[in-house]
Amino acid sequence: MTTLVRTRAELDAALASPPRGRRAVVMTMGALHSGHTSLVHAARDLVGPHGQVVVTVFVNPLQFGPNEDFAQYPRDLEADLATLAASGAAVDLVLAPDVAEVYPGYPDAPLVRVSAGRLGEVLEGASRPGHFDGVLTVVLKLLHLVQPDVAVFGEKDAQQLLLIRRMVTDLDVPVEVVGVPIARADDGVALSSRNAYLSAAERESARALSGALRAGAAAGALGAEAVRAAAQEVLAEACLTPDYLRLVDPTTVDEVPSDHGGPALLLVAARVGTTRLIDNMAVQVTDPGETTR
Ligand code: PAF
Repeated sequence: MTTLVRTRAELDAALASPPRGRRAVVMTMGALHSGHTSLVHAARDLVGPHGQVVVTVFVNPLQFGPNEDFAQYPRDLEADLATLAASGAAVDLVLAPDVAEVYPGYPDAPLVRVSAGRLGEVLEGASRPGHFDGVLTVVLKLLHLVQPDVAVFGEKDAQQLLLIRRMVTDLDVPVEVVGVPIARADDGVALSSRNAYLSAAERESARALSGALRAGAAAGALGAEAVRAAAQEVLAEACLTPDYLRLVDPTTVDEVPSDHGGPALLLVAARVGTTRLIDNMAVQVTDPGETTR
């Protein structure tokens, strides 16, 4: 049975009797889809039948810029609870607080926030200033409130996952962070709450993002430049101009050089109509010089 709690007091009461196993948290902003429920299933697998799975549903104002979709972001808690129930994932607790509960005194508070540093200023952070400071601030707060042993995040938000891992390491936060592979629809599009904004024609164009990543990954044996070129070609064919298309070191998100050999991450962000979508794929790159040396 899932218990719904809306306040810190209700949460504390619900957490008063510790689980017999570990406690896992899945943090969401609601608008739940099967990408989220795959995280919930992963959380249950990690803590086992006697562990506790907590899902948070909170649209965090700190991570939206002034011209972003905070006001329009879909909010339907009943639908979210129904999605969780229908998924068959055993959720013990849903924490769905309002803004004043998470940030008493908002918008004058919180005065002190987490800084993502230089990693928060590139890629997503370059077009969304302050976004990752807002993400890390709420993630740290929710970790403190829920006190999980393990926190599960999707690999679709690769930069977010990297930054959460860095925060946990750099600030000695006592939690294990687990990444879960991207869930995709049959047409290859990565599941995202923002897909709901797409018209049928835009959905067709959106397929080019994952198509570009697949083309890039398939060119891995030909080297980093071939990966970038193959991905770019697919985007150009779909008339999509990416905000960025980068082949990066998965641990630093620094662009990899032409002679890179080894694992890399191909990241793309593009606006499809007015909807900004992101996606990524792991690529095994061979240094083209290797074969001639
Ligand atoms: O990935 C998200 O949905 C959000 O960034 C998160 C981690 C729930 C923080 O608001």
